[in-house]
Amino acid sequence: MTLEERISDTFVGKFGRESELIVRASGRINIIGEHTDYNEGFVLPAAIDKYIYFAVAKNGRRICRFWADDIEESAELDLDNIQSGDQLWANYLFGILQQFQKLGVSLEGFDVAFGGNLPIGSGMSSSAAMEVGMASVVKALFSVDIGKKEIALLAQRSSHQFIGVPCGIMDQFASIMGQKDQVIRLDCRTLSHDYIPFHLGDYRVVMINSKVSHSLASSEYGTRVKECRAGVDILRQYYPGIVSLRDVSLQQLEQHRADLPDVVYKRCHYVVAENDRLLRACDALEEEDIELLGTLLNQTHEGLRDEYEVSAPELDFLVDFAQTYGGVAGSRIMGGGFGGCSINLVRKDRVDAFIADIIDAYRNAFNVEGEAYKVAAVDGTRPVSPGVGIG
Ligand code: GLA
Repeated sequence: MTLEERISDTFVGKFGRESELIVRASGRINIIGEHTDYNEGFVLPAAIDKYIYFAVAKNGRRICRFWADDIEESAELDLDNIQSGDQLWANYLFGILQQFQKLGVSLEGFDVAFGGNLPIGSGMSSSAAMEVGMASVVKALFSVDIGKKEIALLAQRSSHQFIGVPCGIMDQFASIMGQKDQVIRLDCRTLSHDYIPFHLGDYRVVMINSKVSHSLASSEYGTRVKECRAGVDILRQYYPGIVSLRDVSLQQLEQHRADLPDVVYKRCHYVVAENDRLLRACDALEEEDIELLGTLLNQTHEGLRDEYEVSAPELDFLVDFAQTYGGVAGSRIMGGGFGGCSINLVRKDRVDAFIADIIDAYRNAFNVEGEAYKVAAVDGTRPVSPGVGIG
C-alpha cells in the first residue's frame, strides 16, 4: 500500500466518507547555507522524497477536525475562534488557517487525516511541510488565488505570529518550490531564485538521523537571530549602507572585530563566511566537483560547531565518523541545530557499508538507534489527487 492510499483509507476509517482532495507535502534538505536565510543571504535547499500526505473533505460545519495518523492524536478547531492549544502539531495547522482569515478568505469546516514518512523533529522541516501542506489544502479546497511564493511567506508569518519562532524563509520556500532533480539557489533578500541541476556524479545524499533533539533548539535559535542583529547594529555605525549580515564583507568584519563582543563576532564571522562558501559550493555543484562541495560542507560543520555553536555531541560524533570514512566527500549537521540529521555526500558504492557502519558506531557510542535515509530531490508540495467528489 502506498502512503497516499494509507492516508486516504485512514480518512475513510476516521470520518466515514471519501476524501475530496489529497495534498502531498515534502520535507527538505539544505546542501549548504545554514542560518543564512534570516540574515538575507543565500541558501541551497531541495524538496525531498519524504512526505506528509493530507486527505481532506469539507464537512459543512464551522469546525475543522484533524487526525494525526502517525501519533494517533486528534484535534478540533472552531473556525470562529482560532486559538492556539497545547498540541504543537495542531498549532502549525491552526496558524495557517488564521493567516488565511487575516487575508479575508472565508473558510468552511473540513476534516483532515494526515501522516507520512517525514521524520518529525529531525531537521528536515516537518513543521514547514505541515504549514505549507495545510496552506495548499486551503488553496485547493476554497479555490484561493494565491501563488506559491505567497504561500511560503504566509507559512513563515504563521510561524512567527502563531508559533513564536522567528524562522527564515528557507524551509517553507523549499517545501513548496522544490523541483525534481534540482536544488534551489535562493536569495533570501529578494526571494529571487534559480535551479541548479542536482548532479552528484558518483555520489549520493545520505541523511543520518541522530534521533535527538535538544530542548535548547528553539530558545537558542531566537538568540542567534538577535546576536546577528546586534552585530549588524554595531557595524552599521561604521557602514550606514549595511542592512543585514548579507552586506558585510570579511574584511569589514575583521576591521571592526574589537568593536564587537566576542560571541557576536563569532556568530557574524560564521554567517559571512557561510555566504561566501555557498557561492563557491554552487560553482562546485555546477562543475560537478563533488569533492570540493564536500570540503565546503565540512567547513560549514566546523563553523556551526565552533563559531555558531549550534551543534550537539551526537551530531559531532556522526560528522567526525563520516568525515573520516572512505568514500565520504563531506558531512555536516543540517538545519537549525542541537540535534536532527547530518547530511552526507557518500560515494554510491560505499553507501550501504557507510550506513551499516555509522549506525553501529552511533549505537555503541550513544546507545541510540539512528536512522539513515537516501533522499532524492523531488517536486515540492502540491495536490496529487482530486479524489472522489472534486471537479
Ligand atoms: C531552521 C529555520 C530556517 C533556517 C534553518 C537554519 O530550519 O526554520 O529558516 O534558519 O533553521 O539554516
